[in-house]
Amino acid sequence: MKRDEAIGRAREYLLPTSLLSDIVPAEEGPVIERADASVVWDTEGRSYLDFNSGQMCSTLGHNNPRIQAVIREQSAVLTHASTVYYNLPQVELAERIASINDAPLRKSVFGESGSDSNELAVLLARRATGRMSIGALSLSFHGLSDATRAISFSAAAPGYGPAMPEMFAIPTPYCYRCPYESEGKGCCMAPLHFGMETLDKQSAGLPAAVIVEPIVSAGGVIELPAEYLEGLRRELDRRGALLIYDEAQTGLGKLGTMFAYQAYGVQPDILTISKHLGGGIAISATVTTDAVAARATANGFSCGHSHSSDPLACKAGTASIDEIVENDLPQRALAIGRRWQDNIRALQQRHEVVGDIRGRGLLQGIELVRDRRTKEPAAGLATDVYRHGLANGLMFSVRGRHKNVLRFVPPFTTTDAQLDQAAEILEGSIRKALG
Ligand SMILES: Cc1ncc(COP(=O)(O)O)c(C=O)c1O
Repeated sequence: MKRDEAIGRAREYLLPTSLLSDIVPAEEGPVIERADASVVWDTEGRSYLDFNSGQMCSTLGHNNPRIQAVIREQSAVLTHASTVYYNLPQVELAERIASINDAPLRKSVFGESGSDSNELAVLLARRATGRMSIGALSLSFHGLSDATRAISFSAAAPGYGPAMPEMFAIPTPYCYRCPYESEGKGCCMAPLHFGMETLDKQSAGLPAAVIVEPIVSAGGVIELPAEYLEGLRRELDRRGALLIYDEAQTGLGKLGTMFAYQAYGVQPDILTISKHLGGGIAISATVTTDAVAARATANGFSCGHSHSSDPLACKAGTASIDEIVENDLPQRALAIGRRWQDNIRALQQRHEVVGDIRGRGLLQGIELVRDRRTKEPAAGLATDVYRHGLANGLMFSVRGRHKNVLRFVPPFTTTDAQLDQAAEILEGSIRKALG
C-alpha cells in the first residue's frame, strides 16, 4: 500500500492522537513500512536515520536478531499465561533484573508500558507507607494514563477534568533557566527546599514519595544535578518517604551505566523500567527493595493486568538484558554519545541559535535560542528544523517547556558514519530554517 492510500484509510479509521501534531500532524508525515537497526523506511522507499529509536523502544536497534529468535522460539511454547500463577519466563526475568541492579533492589512486578510501571510505583509507595501524597517535578513526564497524567506536569493540558488527587508539582532544577537565587551551594538546592516546603504544606500528612526522571526527558533533556538528588534522598529519608526513579529513558545502558542511579550513587526505593526493556516488545517493570515489598504486601498490595506477566514479553525482556550485558552496550552508548556530542558542539561553534547542549550517551538535547545572552526560546525555529530534518531523512523529536529542545535518542546500533551523516542533515536543516 502506498502513502496516499494509507493516509486516506487512516483518515477514515484512526483517531489522530500524536503528541507532536502541532509540529507535524501524522497525516503530513511519512507512513512507516519497515526498519533495520538505526534506519526506517516509509512506503515510498525513503529512508530515515531514526534518532528517536521508534518511540524510544527500539534502542537496541530495530528488529534485533536475538529478540526475533526468542519471539519465534517462545511463541511455539507459551505466548500468554494466567497472571494468578507464576510462569518460567516471568521468574527468569525477575531474577535477571535483580542481577543488574544494586542490592537491595531485588523484587519486580511487570506491566506493559512506562505509564503502568509508574502507576504501579505510586500504588506501591502508597501501600507501603500508608500515605497518599506524591511529588513530581514541574517538567515531568511519567505517562498518559489517568494516574500518570496527574504526575506528568510537562504534558498538563486543559480539558481532561480533575486530575487524580494528592499529586503535587515541585520545581525542576533547570540550571540553564534557573529562576532562583543561588544559596551558595549551587542553585539546585533552592528548588529542592522550595519543593519540599510546598509538598509538606499541600500533602495530606507526610508525603508517600517523590518521583523523578534522573534526566528529565520530555521536559527538555534536563540533567538533575547530583547534589539535588543527594539532597532529595536526605529530605525524603527525614520524612520516612520513598524515592522513585522513572528510568524509562535513562535505564538499561543508555547513559553508560546500566541505570542512571548507579552513576549518581543515589539509590531509589522504587525503580521503573520500560521503553527498550522488551527490545521492541511491550513490557515494563517496577522494581523495589525487599523491605518496601514486605510492607506493601502486608498492607494488601495486589495488582495485575491481563498481559502483565506474558511469557513472550518476559522472554524478550531477558533477551534484551542479555544483549546489553554481553555486548557491553553501556560502553557503546558512551562512544556514540561522545561522537554525537563532538558533532553538536561543532554546530554550536557555528550557530548562535544552539544555546545549550545537554544529556549523555543515547539521550541528548539541544536547546535553541534566539539570542544566547537573553536565552529567548526559539520554538518556531525548532519546529522548522524538525520539518527540514524529516524532509531530509533524519527523525528526532522536539520537546521542552518552550518546545525549543531538539531531543536525540539514536539506537545502540548507530555507526560513526550515521552519526556524522545525521549531524550534516541537522546542520543543513538549521541553515534552511534560518533562511
Ligand atoms: C520518562 C518516561 N516515563 C514514562 C513514559 C510513558 O511510557 P509509555 O508511553 O510506555 O506509557 C515515558 C514516555 O515517553 C517517559 O518518557
